[in-house]
Amino acid sequence: MSLSAPAIRARKRARGDAALVMVTAYDEPAARYADAAGVDILLVGDSVANVVMGQADTLHVTLAEMVHHVAAVASARPNAHVVADMPWLSYHLGTADAVRNAAELIRAGAQSVKLEGGHARLEVVRALLDAEIPVMGHLGLTPQSVLAMGGFKVQAKSRDAAKLLVEDALLLQEEGVYAIVIEGVPGAVGTEVTAALEIPTIGIGAGPDTDGQVLVFHDLLGLTGRKPARFVRQYAQLGEAITEAIGRYAADVREETSPSEDESYPSSDAGH
Ligand code: KIV
Repeated sequence: MSLSAPAIRARKRARGDAALVMVTAYDEPAARYADAAGVDILLVGDSVANVVMGQADTLHVTLAEMVHHVAAVASARPNAHVVADMPWLSYHLGTADAVRNAAELIRAGAQSVKLEGGHARLEVVRALLDAEIPVMGHLGLTPQSVLAMGGFKVQAKSRDAAKLLVEDALLLQEEGVYAIVIEGVPGAVGTEVTAALEIPTIGIGAGPDTDGQVLVFHDLLGLTGRKPARFVRQYAQLGEAITEAIGRYAADVREETSPSEDESYPSSDAGH
């Protein structure tokens, strides 16, 4: 039985619980490997647009594409909780539309959905909860607002902005979200919002004091081919390992050493 939204909601470091570990996954092998590592939550993030589809922002992934990736992740049957990002415009056009769209992600295998924004999203959060769909919030640097924000910039740097973020977090909590991602804010704001809430915060570029942390799979494994953001600790350089391995394969083929006799079927075993 995978970790449920209520079980995640109950986790708070201040009450002595272990920090929540979340990582993105967009396909079955990534979900399987991350689950084997014991993560708590797999996020089928709309960051798939950046790290898999090569887009500059997350505005270019559709609901149908998210459904496709959720189904791939869910097919790993992970013990981790699977949460799916609601992509841009899938929850902005009315509550009935949002519930229908979230239901597609749930039917594809997600156990909850995540959406960006605070006070402006309360109505849609309520509608999703009314439809029995658990919701994770997302505040701070919300990538779907990149055009409105004028770029991917650290948010809540002023006292007033930090106060508004905490107010938004409290409103989302009151509405019933089970956890909130806090992205791209000063560490002190990550600390403040975490202390203000009963539900867990999951930080990314929000300092060390949130109740959990999330990283993008490709960032943490060195698969993006670019300098990582300040908050990304890289645990491997798989991009280099992949190029090196495929280079050896190419050399073997060109040198005509692959496949060998042992790697070829003998005629007596032609039927496998
Ligand atoms: O899509 C994503 O990867 C996310 C994380 C940055 C939290 O929303």
